[in-house]
Amino acid sequence: MANASLTLFLFLSLFLFSSPSTAVDFITSSQNLTHGDTLVSAKGFFELGFFTPGNSTNRYLGIWYKIIPVRTIVWVANRENPIRNSSAVAVLKINSTSSDLFLFENDVVVWSGKSLKPAKSPKLQLLDDGNLVLKDAESEETSWQSFDYPTDTLLPGMKLGWDFKNGIQRRLSAWKTSDDPSPGSLTMEMMNTSYPEPAMWNGSNEYMRSGPWNGLQFSAKPTSALPILVYSYVNNKFELSYSYELINSSLIGRMVLNQTKFRREALLWSESEKNWKLYATMPRDYCDTYGLCGAFGSCDIEQVPACQCLFGFHPKVQEKWNLMDYNEGCVRNKPLNCSDKTGFAKLPGLKLPDTKQSWVNESMSLNECKEKCLRDCSCVAFANTDIRGSGNGCAIWFGELVDIKVVRKGGQDLYVRMLASELETKKTSSAVVGIIVGAAALVILGLVLIGFYVIRSKRRNLEVAGKDLEGQEDDLELPLFDLATISNATDNFSNSNKLGEGGFGAVFRGRLKDGQEIAVKRLSSYSRQGTDEFKNEVILIAKLQHRNLVKLLGCCIQGDEKMLIYEYMPNKSLDSFIFDSARKKLLDWSKRFNIICGVARGILYLHQDSRLRIIHRDLKASNVLLDIDLNPKISDFGMARTFGGDQTEGNTQRVVGTYGYMAPEYAIDGQFSIKSDVFSFGILMLEIISGEKNRGFFRPNHALNLIGHAWKLWNEGKPLELIDASIGESYALSEVLRCIHVSLLCLQQLPEDRPTMSNVVLMLSSESSLAQPKQPGFYMERDSLEVFSVSGKNESSTTNELTITLLEAR
Ligand SMILES: *[C@@H]1O[C@H](CO)[C@@H](O)[C@H](O)[C@H]1NC(C)=O
Ligand SMILES: *[C@@H]1O[C@H](CO)[C@@H](O)[C@H](O)[C@H]1NC(C)=O
Ligand SMILES: *[C@@H]1O[C@H](CO)[C@@H](O)[C@H](O)[C@H]1NC(C)=O
Ligand SMILES: *[C@@H]1O[C@H](CO)[C@@H](O)[C@H](O)[C@H]1NC(C)=O
Ligand SMILES: *[C@@H]1O[C@H](CO)[C@@H](O)[C@H](O)[C@H]1NC(C)=O
Ligand SMILES: *[C@@H]1O[C@H](CO)[C@@H](O)[C@H](O)[C@H]1NC(C)=O
Ligand SMILES: *[C@@H]1O[C@H](CO)[C@@H](O)[C@H](O)[C@H]1NC(C)=O
Ligand SMILES: *[C@@H]1O[C@H](CO)[C@@H](O)[C@H](O)[C@H]1NC(C)=O
Ligand SMILES: *[C@@H]1O[C@H](CO)[C@@H](O)[C@H](O)[C@H]1NC(C)=O
Ligand SMILES: *[C@@H]1O[C@H](CO)[C@@H](O)[C@H](O)[C@H]1NC(C)=O
Repeated sequence: MANASLTLFLFLSLFLFSSPSTAVDFITSSQNLTHGDTLVSAKGFFELGFFTPGNSTNRYLGIWYKIIPVRTIVWVANRENPIRNSSAVAVLKINSTSSDLFLFENDVVVWSGKSLKPAKSPKLQLLDDGNLVLKDAESEETSWQSFDYPTDTLLPGMKLGWDFKNGIQRRLSAWKTSDDPSPGSLTMEMMNTSYPEPAMWNGSNEYMRSGPWNGLQFSAKPTSALPILVYSYVNNKFELSYSYELINSSLIGRMVLNQTKFRREALLWSESEKNWKLYATMPRDYCDTYGLCGAFGSCDIEQVPACQCLFGFHPKVQEKWNLMDYNEGCVRNKPLNCSDKTGFAKLPGLKLPDTKQSWVNESMSLNECKEKCLRDCSCVAFANTDIRGSGNGCAIWFGELVDIKVVRKGGQDLYVRMLASELETKKTSSAVVGIIVGAAALVILGLVLIGFYVIRSKRRNLEVAGKDLEGQEDDLELPLFDLATISNATDNFSNSNKLGEGGFGAVFRGRLKDGQEIAVKRLSSYSRQGTDEFKNEVILIAKLQHRNLVKLLGCCIQGDEKMLIYEYMPNKSLDSFIFDSARKKLLDWSKRFNIICGVARGILYLHQDSRLRIIHRDLKASNVLLDIDLNPKISDFGMARTFGGDQTEGNTQRVVGTYGYMAPEYAIDGQFSIKSDVFSFGILMLEIISGEKNRGFFRPNHALNLIGHAWKLWNEGKPLELIDASIGESYALSEVLRCIHVSLLCLQQLPEDRPTMSNVVLMLSSESSLAQPKQPGFYMERDSLEVFSVSGKNESSTTNELTITLLEAR
């Protein structure tokens, strides 16, 4: 085929000057490619030839896909120097002595490709990955390739970055317009700094950073639930580059810089629709704008305003900051001085700051890194360079920290240097607030004279958790248990050891060799998460430590098995008390009130103090465990974060929650927020007070659920009829009333009407007057039934007590 068409080509060029189009497999130095001729890759994926873009009359030599019907140019040779004379003869030739490539307009060179070295018998060939390669036909050595000179498109397998050996920088620049392939102002390149990262530029202004490589990906990119690309990164003395491949190699995809839209686009070819589909863009959001929040600011798209100063910093010019002018950035609350005692605040889930002023040693541990930073007065922050496993490598920053973005899942931990006293302030300031509020509460209490046990429980309410910003925080090592140990401890997951089945898998009781009792959550294979990713997530969750959260002792990952090991709670869950006619008598009012307050503090910690901002999404009586003293401990926190799919990438959304506890906006639209947790907490409060389940609540005279029933009684002025008879007579009337009142505030239809958890904690622990609640959401049993039929979601489980998971494809 090759020789036949070549012979035909030669024949035609000899005898017919304006030959009809000819497609060949390769050309040698004794041949040429002229207008109408094309070079086609072996399997016919790509084609090289002359083309005229859009409305232009200029001719260019370029490469496009041959297998798809929409002409898509992926490479252009003479982008800056088109063939303008439409009747000129355009010819591509290989110089036989130097092996350089030359493109002629008549006899004038308009473009050349310089060979790295002359080939004895050069052969120019287009490969099926889209690479135009000039090789020596004998030694197969490459003298020149188009992949070394990208234009606006990065194809799978193509490298962006530096070939130090041959002194080649491979960078992208957008077409000026769709009629003009000459370079526009939008470019993308790999920054050759000590801690390299790709960045996009608008002319000479940096436009967006991808963040440095973290062992898995570039740190600006949130972890994808359904990745379709895999990246690889090379950084050694010969090369600094990254490239990507499509996981499914039968897909056709490309990355291209788009000057009009001013972004990098990842596109996938849709065979059925015969067009390109946008898969992802960079920048993804406003927060990707380089340096938006100024020095020591960080950008969080989920916050209003998006720019926030780092912990321990405040806006340099508050007036400008208020007007959303963030250029001036933030400054330290107290300036650092070399002789000061310092520690580090750990800021999780970030795209690391601009690396231009950084230093890296890839073989240092996090601890060595910290020591290194402490020894160097000009060091302001440090981080691991590789987040795989428990983390490795050391990067330290000097000067100002610029362009930090909160990416959460997939982001990295950054340790920012602080005055030791500054690290203390968080703890003390909450203590001070505690003392002030406490004092105020005591005065009021003194006036109101309520029973002493109330005072006791209130004091407890006022202790606010402040554990998250420990100075010099130790790197938490999460114990990894092996499968054999866990299997042994649970008697091979025997049914007799099974404690129950939750939304994310079955729970087993076990006893380790040293006698410690554990609860093992064997996770169902919900997630496509990789092992390292899972481990990172678990380590994050393990760092959430609060008196009212169940303690995670470790995890077990082996093959497909993923398990979480928790402390064992002998008193089981709250539902086994409040919904059981005999055991409910064990919980008098003061115990119930203590549980309500403890759960509130636990949720507050998840929402606000933990810095991970966990939304629980499945709060319910069976997820509140009781310790030996009947103190509540929330379980299954962070599970929705790990498995629930906060990701909307891949266009699927998973709604996690339990029928009868879900807020209306969450059940209907899948919109979750801290306020949907507040709604669930409201229901939990009503259940604790009444000893009845919201779901399955029944009164012969109306069709209301527990929420509706409480609302009815409230409006009729007889809220006390809600109280569980087994509480008996010994309760503080005002306290019970207050709890009912707060629960109705939590249950209001509109999320914006509901209080935050910090308000809830405050309301429960003070005597201030409360707002009148508006009508609650979901107060009819029918409401919630209709929700599911109307939105047509598939319930994977329908039993009342089980967590349901709704999957919906958009
Ligand atoms: C192209 O190559 C053929 C022989 O291979 C030659 O006859 C012809 O003149 C060449 N065309 C140009 C414009 O150099
Ligand atoms: C080409 O020219 C036509 C008519 O002048 C115009 O409507 C169209 O937008 C142009 N297309 C491009 C890509 O510039
Ligand atoms: C354009 O090319 C034709 C054919 O080679 C030539 O005769 C003509 O002079 C060229 N025009 C210009 C302006 O160079
Ligand atoms: C090849 O290049 C050399 C050096 O640039 C030049 O002298 C020579 O004429 C070229 N050969 C051809 C056939 O164009
Ligand atoms: C890349 O960076 C290294 C280390 O900073 C430096 O030695 C080298 O000269 C740089 N190379 C180029 C091509 O800029
Ligand atoms: C790119 O830079 C130009 C010139 O500095 C500026 O006018 C333009 O707004 C910038 N574009 C974007 C998207 O930042
Ligand atoms: C890869 O993509 C092709 C074409 O869309 C599809 O038919 C095939 O099922 C995919 N394979 C995998 C493993 O996803
Ligand atoms: C840039 O985006 C616009 C609008 O989506 C599109 O028309 C144009 O073809 C794109 N340009 C490139 C180079 O992909
Ligand atoms: C740093 O602290 C020392 C001792 O407290 C003090 O003498 C010095 O002036 C301080 N330097 C600066 C720049 O604040
Ligand atoms: C990097 O750190 C390792 C381990 O601490 C040390 O042995 C090595 O000398 C360091 N390399 C450089 C260039 O500092």
